[in-house]
Amino acid sequence: MDGRPRRRQASAMDTHAPLPHAADGLTICSVTRLDEPALRAGLEALLEDAVASGASVGFHAPLDPTLNRAFWDEIAADLAGGHLTLLVARDAEGAVAGCVQLVPSPKQNARHRAEVRKLLVHSAHRRRGIARRLMEDLCASAREQGRIVLQLDTLAGDVGEPFYRSTGWIQAGVLPDHTLEADGRYHDTVLFHRRL
Ligand SMILES: CC(C)(COP(=O)(O)OP(=O)(O)OC[C@H]1O[C@@H](n2cnc3c(N)ncnc32)[C@H](O)[C@@H]1OP(=O)(O)O)[C@@H](O)C(=O)NCCC(=O)NCCS
Repeated sequence: MDGRPRRRQASAMDTHAPLPHAADGLTICSVTRLDEPALRAGLEALLEDAVASGASVGFHAPLDPTLNRAFWDEIAADLAGGHLTLLVARDAEGAVAGCVQLVPSPKQNARHRAEVRKLLVHSAHRRRGIARRLMEDLCASAREQGRIVLQLDTLAGDVGEPFYRSTGWIQAGVLPDHTLEADGRYHDTVLFHRRL
């Protein structure tokens, strides 16, 4: 045991009932393994697309395929250890359209806290409410896990900022020069929090 909290055991793919307004066939599932080739390829394509679109998600464009694979290998290991929740949105054809992660704090004094990471919606599917729906499901999952205080960070001035502001998140502060982006300049990061 590494002392990190383990969330409840789940089946290989805990399918959430489609939301009532999912008339477009979008489904959101909690994924616990990444060994399905189409799922894995879809997630790699999603990250590559986000980086190519200029998102500040830890990598510079063009995304090195080795770094992409290593990233998802690490997520697969964390999923196997029960250390995070990964929600995946798929379109009516089953293609990966978006994802988001919830990472519960392992600290003894922070069993009520979790971080939201890597909210990604494929550029072909943006502005259709998919991120909003992913976050609604993620908040429901956080509540189920007793994680009622959430936090996240996003690049100042980027698309994440208006998204979080318009969906109930509260700005906690700004970290100056927090990231070094592909343009060779330092950029500020905005911290957001939310009480469920
Ligand atoms: C940020 C992101 C996840 C939003 O996904 P999305 O599915 O397009 O967002 P939604 O359609 O649910 O948008 C909900 C609301 O957020 C706001 N919003 C979303 N994208 C916006 C943008 N580009 N500019 C301004 N407001 C935006 C709007 O208020 C929108 O409501 P509206 O469409 O009715 O006006 C998506 O642009 C993305 O994946 N970007 C790259 C990765 C990234 O930056 N992730 C966030 C930081 S980790």
